[in-house]
Amino acid sequence: MVSVTHTPVNDLDYSAAEYGHVDGVPSPYTLSIPDGPLTDEQAMRLALDAARCGIRGANPLVGAVITGTDGRVLHVGWHRGAGTPHAEADALAQARAAGTDLRGASMYVSLEPCNHTGRTGPCSHAIVAAGVRRVRYAYPDTTSAAGGAAHLRSNGVDAQLMEGFSADSYLLNERWFIAAAERRPFITAKSASTLDGFIAAADGTSKWITGPAARIDGHLVRHRADAVMIGTRTALTDDPSLDARRSDGSRFTKQPLRVVMGRREIPESYRIRGLAAEGPYDPDRFLQVFTHDPSELLSTLYDRGVRHLMIEGGPGMVGLFAGEDLVDEMIWYRAPLLLGHGKSAVYRLSTGTLANAPRLHLDDLGMFPAVRVLGADTATHLVPVPRGDYQNPGARRVLERCTECYAPEPREDG
Ligand SMILES: NC(=O)c1ccc[n+]([C@@H]2O[C@H](COP(=O)([O-])OP(=O)(O)OC[C@H]3O[C@@H](n4cnc5c(N)ncnc54)[C@H](OP(=O)(O)O)[C@@H]3O)[C@@H](O)[C@H]2O)c1
Repeated sequence: MVSVTHTPVNDLDYSAAEYGHVDGVPSPYTLSIPDGPLTDEQAMRLALDAARCGIRGANPLVGAVITGTDGRVLHVGWHRGAGTPHAEADALAQARAAGTDLRGASMYVSLEPCNHTGRTGPCSHAIVAAGVRRVRYAYPDTTSAAGGAAHLRSNGVDAQLMEGFSADSYLLNERWFIAAAERRPFITAKSASTLDGFIAAADGTSKWITGPAARIDGHLVRHRADAVMIGTRTALTDDPSLDARRSDGSRFTKQPLRVVMGRREIPESYRIRGLAAEGPYDPDRFLQVFTHDPSELLSTLYDRGVRHLMIEGGPGMVGLFAGEDLVDEMIWYRAPLLLGHGKSAVYRLSTGTLANAPRLHLDDLGMFPAVRVLGADTATHLVPVPRGDYQNPGARRVLERCTECYAPEPREDG
């Protein structure tokens, strides 16, 4: 077995190496690769495994495997998040660095290679230039980046879809496909609660429910997001800065847009509008969307180029978006505390009966397990159960808006 060790590629490399300082997180992540020649099916399975080394967010999880003419694995690449190289480019870069001759090689990619110039060049062109002879992909690209397979074929590369893997590839990225098709940001909701599901005590005290390791982890999620959103009540009550900081308290260079949703105006003195650390007031760092309608908020953000939105609360926002089937992943920090009474971690969500409750799956990405121990707390990473499959993408499961939950808010009883 060969072992591939993950090495960070740049400041935006959301790798296990970045998360490694958090207690309980294995670092660096290693992917085991069989030593002997692989069949097409084994190589594609490995590409799908490699895809899971990435991280959810504004880009899909994609893996790429390059094998030599003897079928043995030469390089394995994967996409590490928005702003980092695509999986194919990652594998090709490894080949260049190692001086591997790729003439006659095969590449297995879990998604059709792209054909457009975004933050990275077209992968289909790079594959042709490298001399790769065969490409197998698990899922056709239907976005604006489509056309990669056609480009490969027109340049003499034998490129074919392995349809037997399309269902797996679709499921891996279902929520990303949905967000892209709905032309809205991919949405990550975060919550930090007691074991019995409260985010504040009955007297309003809430600092701190979770410990430093969980809070540091939350800052890493902020750092990944293009925008971080809260409701007006959280903004007015807590006056949070919402910036993304490292474990030593210093600010990351890349900061998310700070967003407030709701009708009450946030006064200029509030930190979310402008931080002393940022120097002169910069309106581009803050946005208030004066609406109660998630669709309006999302289209405003999408039009501003936001592709990954993190919802930081409060519980009304988490419930509102979950009830509209708009939460694409959830990160739940849970502290070993019992409150009995207090502010519930989710409200403005009316399910009525168990069958209506939005169900989630543990999302065990390769980079870290779905349930992690962070100091005294746990972090659980979840995605909604699939809406459908690649041939029949299901419809949105929208619950009736919970108007009677508006007052009193939040719920005070257990
Ligand atoms: N532990 C955690 O993870 C965490 C995280 C964040 C917050 N919190 C806590 O959560 C509490 C505040 O949360 P919250 O849920 O009560 O408030 P919230 O979600 O922050 O804000 C609620 C407000 O948002 C506006 N709003 C926007 N869209 C709405 C809609 N569709 N329906 C109704 N109102 C809408 C309304 O204000 P307008 O009248 O202005 O429109 C509403 O009063 C605070 O105690 C805070 O400390 C905890």
